[in-house]
Amino acid sequence: MKVLVTGACGYKGSVLVPKLLAKGHSVVALDTQWFGNFLPEHAKLTVLKQDVRQVAEIDLDGIDSIVHLASVANDPCGDLDPKLTWEISALATMQLADMAYRKGIKHFVYASSGSVYGVKDEAQVTEDLVLEPISEYNKTKMVSERVLLSYADKMAVQIVRPATVCGLSPRMRLDVSVNMLTMQALKNGVITVFGGDQTRPNIHIDDITDLYVFLLENPQHTGVYNAGFENISILDIAHMVSQKIKAKIEVTPSNDPRSYRINSDKLLATGFKPKKTVSDAIDEIINRYQQGELVDQDRWYNLKWMQQEVLK
Ligand SMILES: NC(=O)c1ccc[n+]([C@@H]2O[C@H](COP(=O)([O-])OP(=O)(O)OC[C@H]3O[C@@H](n4cnc5c(N)ncnc54)[C@H](O)[C@@H]3O)[C@@H](O)[C@H]2O)c1
Repeated sequence: MKVLVTGACGYKGSVLVPKLLAKGHSVVALDTQWFGNFLPEHAKLTVLKQDVRQVAEIDLDGIDSIVHLASVANDPCGDLDPKLTWEISALATMQLADMAYRKGIKHFVYASSGSVYGVKDEAQVTEDLVLEPISEYNKTKMVSERVLLSYADKMAVQIVRPATVCGLSPRMRLDVSVNMLTMQALKNGVITVFGGDQTRPNIHIDDITDLYVFLLENPQHTGVYNAGFENISILDIAHMVSQKIKAKIEVTPSNDPRSYRINSDKLLATGFKPKKTVSDAIDEIINRYQQGELVDQDRWYNLKWMQQEVLK
């Protein structure tokens, strides 16, 4: 199979692409490379430093499936320049879907977000609940989902609403909760928790990338799937970290009220099984740091890096 992965040089893409190559697939990795390019060279890999907004310039000849990861990938970054956010995260998705249909591509996998639900009181947040996105980021995800679903009679559309991802990637992110709290403990011996009570779902980066591979290989599972397996509070995560690395926990007020538990039973019913946990992610980060192979740097924080380098 020949797969176009957009946002392929990002946190998830840098783990996903080598997995696709290891399975014998050919990959076209398209990315503006805002945070760099950490993909290994490979005979079946073509890396294109290209913007998904210039959709007419994307060569879709011979592509069987698309995994669309490119976006302005969190709430604060989405607020930096809302016009840019809507162009990349919503408009380009619409244009890419339309172009894919016109070129006869039969399979489109989309990285939405579990945050499209907004603040929910329901004990179990399932895929059929009303979406109440709060930020520009969440809204672009909801709109992209709707656009893609309008192509569902023309190609296999698989939409994933992932929890917050944790764990190691060659293009690291230290602005996602588990990774951030672990790095704070390692570097400062102090973990700062904003609010702390908000419950959020989590997913290990090996599981979310295995899921994209699973969906590519199982196009019969169409529609929308939640993907998150440990609904725990930020404070719980801080305690898990502090049991492994001695650190003081400081709780400060938060202005982010989002609290939700996602239910992933629909995904589990497909036969997909997660293999890793938040605890695994913390252990892996600790080991890599202690081996001197993980360095805290601005590039690993999307907001800081976008302000300093991308939008300067
Ligand atoms: N990491 C998470 O916890 C998480 C959770 C839920 C959903 N997601 C979604 O998964 C996707 C991947 O997330 P990630 O964590 O790998 O983020 P990331 O920021 O590491 O990767 C996004 C990549 O998209 C690229 N990009 C941005 N604008 C582009 C454009 N116009 N054209 C081409 N490439 C462009 C960036 O250079 C970057 O490499 C995103 O859509 C994100 O919203 C992530």
